[in-house]
Amino acid sequence: MRVLLQDQLLNRDEVAIDIEDRGYQFGDGVYEVMRVYEGQLFTINEHLERLARSADQIRMKLPLRLDVLKERLIELVSENSVQNGAVYVQVSRGVSLRNHSFPGDKVTPVLIAYPLPGKKPAQEQQNGVQVNLVDDMRWLRCDIKSLNLLWNVMAKQEALDKGTYEALLHRDGTITEGSSTNFYAVKDGTVYTHPANNLILNGITRMKIIELCSENGIPFMEKELYINERTSFDEAFISSTTIEIVPVTKIEEDVIGEGKPGEVTKRLQELFRKITP
Ligand code: PDD
Repeated sequence: MRVLLQDQLLNRDEVAIDIEDRGYQFGDGVYEVMRVYEGQLFTINEHLERLARSADQIRMKLPLRLDVLKERLIELVSENSVQNGAVYVQVSRGVSLRNHSFPGDKVTPVLIAYPLPGKKPAQEQQNGVQVNLVDDMRWLRCDIKSLNLLWNVMAKQEALDKGTYEALLHRDGTITEGSSTNFYAVKDGTVYTHPANNLILNGITRMKIIELCSENGIPFMEKELYINERTSFDEAFISSTTIEIVPVTKIEEDVIGEGKPGEVTKRLQELFRKITP
């Protein structure tokens, strides 16, 4: 496998991460997961912009200019002959003696990127999934795509241990998002999702879904959804780069709508399929 380290493409065995890398020790860094369809990086500009924003929010300078990074990522996909899959990009604040304070300008952030297998969850996309509720105990800057994913990891494992597909996080009675997905409910034909504030990650798939709604006359509104109102949802679904759009047919033991993927969800899946190669 070929791996991007800073601006260089190397073989995997030529790349080593230092024991004092701050990403490793503090989760001090940011990341992106991008989708590759037919050899093309999907919504690459949006992902790069979000990476730059995340870095900016944690007061870290990316080690490469975005246009250079974009070129290298395209080369990475091509050198690894990725047809359908994903690319993981991570930037840590760099290598320095373990100390909570920032290491200063002389330390360069460390960027790595490499391909990940990315298979569509075809079965789940078609049949829908069950999710379970988990308290959202994350920090209050969930809008930053940071490497600190401990609660996301804990929540996801709890969901899997209970035999469900995803953890639906809730804070103060409102549904924020999934452990690695955004959440939506449909009521009387309108699609609702949590406002893009500090409590959720503004997903690139989410932004595409909003665009698709507005271009196709599907009513859409950013609004807080309450866990107590879940039985009144006609439909629900989750989205991310890796899973695209997956219908939610059950929240805990409560059946959503008719217990099968709803019409609005299916329409959005179809519209989404049309904008991917
Ligand atoms: N996760 N919310 C959270 C907490 C996420 O981690 C993700 C993505 C999303 C969806 O964002 P997008 O549509 O841009 O993928 C929402 C990635 C895929 C991951 O961590 O693997």
